[in-house]
Amino acid sequence: MRKSILIANWKMNGSLHSNQALLVRMLAKLRPFRKTIDMAICPPFPYLFQVRDLLGYTGIALGAQNASRARSGAHTGEVSATMLQEMGCRYVLVGHSERRALYHESDDDVATRFRQVLSADMTPVLCVGETLEEREHGQTMAVIERQIQAVIDQSGISGLAGSIVAYEPVWAIGTGRTATPEQVADTHRAIRQFLENCETGSGRSMRLVYGGSVKAANAAALFSSPEVDGGLIGGASLQADEFSNIAAALA
Ligand code: G3P
Repeated sequence: MRKSILIANWKMNGSLHSNQALLVRMLAKLRPFRKTIDMAICPPFPYLFQVRDLLGYTGIALGAQNASRARSGAHTGEVSATMLQEMGCRYVLVGHSERRALYHESDDDVATRFRQVLSADMTPVLCVGETLEEREHGQTMAVIERQIQAVIDQSGISGLAGSIVAYEPVWAIGTGRTATPEQVADTHRAIRQFLENCETGSGRSMRLVYGGSVKAANAAALFSSPEVDGGLIGGASLQADEFSNIAAALA
């Protein structure tokens, strides 16, 4: 039985003051769900200490939004996986479409970052997904399989099995346009089948979450399929009521 998980991706948002106000309100509202679902908050790097301290013993995990492809050394501006692990991170997003599109992270680059996160004993959250043009040309699974295969090539299916895959159609991120529950279920089912073809059992055991304009109003429908093990939430995770209502829909 796969335990559901809800992950907040704050992206490049927040301040010491607003983080405090948001989390104090949000953590009180999330308390009822702590034993039912796994939850994680991924703030920008500078706020990892503050968020870790605010999360305290709530059972809600700390996460990061990326990790360097290098272990250490002359990589100005980068943050290594071992540093994140030292900060108390349990999850690390890798391959988010904004990293791929805006900062030109290739499939191989993402696979290396994935491998660094695994090596630092954290759980990678591998973000995959297609553009609208790729979907309209029937390329959705070709793109997703290519993105996943790059990780398998570096970390093996055993490495992938220790991660979470987040399906985030690029055309649904931050647009207010979500994939339909049917599109989400169908794509998650196809990803599981691909994983099963790679190694029997991995498709059934791995957690697949959906991200892309999830709100309290649409969460129940999006999470209704047994193929969906949770969500990766952007904008709505910056609002205590929205995020806790999404958690309620998942729990
Ligand atoms: O990583 C989650 C994010 O890409 C989704 O953003 O604002 O559409 O929920 P949003």
